[in-house]
This record gives sequence, structure tokens and C-alpha cells, in this order.
Amino acid sequence: MIDAIATANVTKPDFDVPPTVVEHLDTAEREALRAEIKQLLVRENAVLVAHYYTDPELQKLADETGGYVSDSLDMARFGHDHTARTLVVAGVRFMGETAKILNPGKRVLMPDLKAECSLDLGCPIEQFTTFCDEHPDRTVVVYANTSAAVKARADWMVTSGSAVDVVKHLMATGRKILWAPDKFLGSYIRDNTGADMLLWNSACIVHEEFKGRELAALRAQYPDAMVLVHPESPPSVIALADVVSSTTGLIKAVQTLSCNTFIVATDKGIFYKMRQVAPGKTLIEAPTAGDSATCRSCAHCPWMAMNGLRSLAASLRTGANEVVVAREIGLRAVVPIKRLLDFSAARGQVILGNNDA
Ligand code: 13P
Ligand code: SF4
Repeated sequence: MIDAIATANVTKPDFDVPPTVVEHLDTAEREALRAEIKQLLVRENAVLVAHYYTDPELQKLADETGGYVSDSLDMARFGHDHTARTLVVAGVRFMGETAKILNPGKRVLMPDLKAECSLDLGCPIEQFTTFCDEHPDRTVVVYANTSAAVKARADWMVTSGSAVDVVKHLMATGRKILWAPDKFLGSYIRDNTGADMLLWNSACIVHEEFKGRELAALRAQYPDAMVLVHPESPPSVIALADVVSSTTGLIKAVQTLSCNTFIVATDKGIFYKMRQVAPGKTLIEAPTAGDSATCRSCAHCPWMAMNGLRSLAASLRTGANEVVVAREIGLRAVVPIKRLLDFSAARGQVILGNNDA
């Protein structure tokens, strides 16, 4: 199957993809940093909120200190409900920004502000504004993985777990959609709703590397395994999936399905939480490199990997890497985010929360 997607004619912006560098610490340094961070969290009246793709050390620390490990939107919601004055977001920049937009009165710190996302980088606000201006008849729906400025230009923000429902809702009122930035998630939504969607041309550099042909060969080796796929993956990979879902949904699938072996097509950081919730099960990485390919990320996001114990401790020690969102941008960006929260609340759903399958 060919993974060509019909997108709008958008010039793809150039950006550098850093190598994935995982922090290695000896036991003594790791234990010293863990102890220091625990003290600093108390001193700074701070709570650690980590994404599933971050280093297990950070996820473990979040769990041990009364913090939280989840997907991007749920991380922000947890921070909003928590009484801490400082939120430390271990993830990528759009997650820190979303936390700040929803919690403007709190200080939001990140271990490393250079932790980007290829989808965010692939959708600069100037080009995106032109694109929207060229299609005034379309409702602008953007993925959570975008800058605050792009959200401020949107009518709706969605997450991978909510996108199909929101687009169906918009279709029911006769809307045509302008979608950005992930072309694979966009085409997945389009295929599942039949909506009239114009797609921006960008992709996640981690998920776009999963390979359909090699995945089919792997599945043939494990005929009893179920294939779990994040919808940022190419159509040839999605076509082989038993479950297509958000990060939270994939974890829930491992936990609740009776199957014992899973082939997982998403960032391998998620395996830490999957092993926690389903200790006896066998998890296999979906292939990222085939005959004709060399993987850039090898299923681990280089920007997520920038979050480490050293950078986390440094940020808490000095207050460095505070996330700032201009007030006027934040006031506009909160509208599409709140629209999604209200939409899910009205349906009695917890979107992408830990209880969301
Ligand atoms: P979630 O918000 O669904 O966890 O996804 C974020 C992400 O970056 C997926 O690649
Ligand atoms: Fe962005 Fe992909 Fe990294 Fe998620 S895994 S933060 S979508 S580059």
C-alpha cells in the first residue's frame, strides 16, 4: 500500500531533527538527583506532570511524588485541578504551553524548552494564517500538537482520542473542515467520518517511520498478537491494526484485552506504563526500519528524550525554562481548547483521561 495522502499545497517548512539522546546516569548520581528533585518539588510548591513518552525515571518520579503521568490534555487538566503553584511539565513544548494556557495563574516550568514536536515545527503560524485566510468557508480544527499561536487561530482543538467525534459533530451541522497539521491523523479522521477535510501537510517524525510491509511480516511471526497503532502512523500501518487509539487508549487496550502479546506502533516510552498496568504481557516494538529505510528516531521521540533528571533538577533549582504564553494569544487559544473540554463534558466523556479507552 502506498502512503501518499492528498494534502493542500503547503510548502513543507524545514527544521532540524536532533538525534535521540537518552540520559545515562550512574546509580549514585541518579539517586542524588532523585532525592534533590523530591526536596525541590516541596520547596517550590511544585508538582511533576509527565507524558507517557518520557524517560521512565521521570514517570516513576511523578508517580512517587503525587504527580501524574498521562497524555497531553489530561496532563494540563491535572495541573489545573492541583493546588500546586508550579507545574513542572516533562514532555514537549506544546504540552507546556497548553498547561500554561489552561492555568495562566500558575508558573509552568519545563526541563528543556528546546523539546519541540515535528508537527508543531511543521506548522508555522505565518503560513498557517495564510492557509486559513484562503479558506474562510472552512471550520479550522487543529491537533493539540500545535503552538499556542496556531491554536489561537483555530475554531476547535482536538486530541487523537476526540478528533473523530468532534469532526462528526461538525459534519452534522454541515461544516467543511480545514485540518492541521498531521496529514496521517487527518486522513484517518477523514476515512472514519467521510468529512470534507482539507489537510495540512505535516507528520510526526516518530510515527511516520513505522513500516506497513515489515509490520505485516512481524505479525505473521506472531499470529496470536494484537497490533496496537497510534493514528499518527501511515495508512499502511493503520490498515493492519486491531486497535487504533490515543496513547491512553493503547495503554488501556494492553490492560483490558485478554490477549497476551501486543505489537505496538507508537513511541517506545509508552512501554513503561504498559508494563506497569499489564506486567505479564509480551510487548513487541513495531518495525521502523525496513529494506529501504533507516530510522531517524527508531520509535523514540528525540524531543521527548531531552527531558532528563539533570535538566529537571536544574529547572527547579533556578526557575529556568519557564513557559511563557503572551496574554492575548493565551486568551484566544483557550477558546478552542475549552470548546473540546465542554464538548466532552457534555457527552459525559473523559477525553484522553486515564479512564478513557
Ligand atoms: P497524546 O496527547 O495522545 O498522548 O499524544 C501526544 C503525542 O505527541 C503523540 O505522538
Ligand atoms: Fe511530536 Fe511525534 Fe514527538 Fe509526539 S512523538 S511529540 S507527535 S514528534
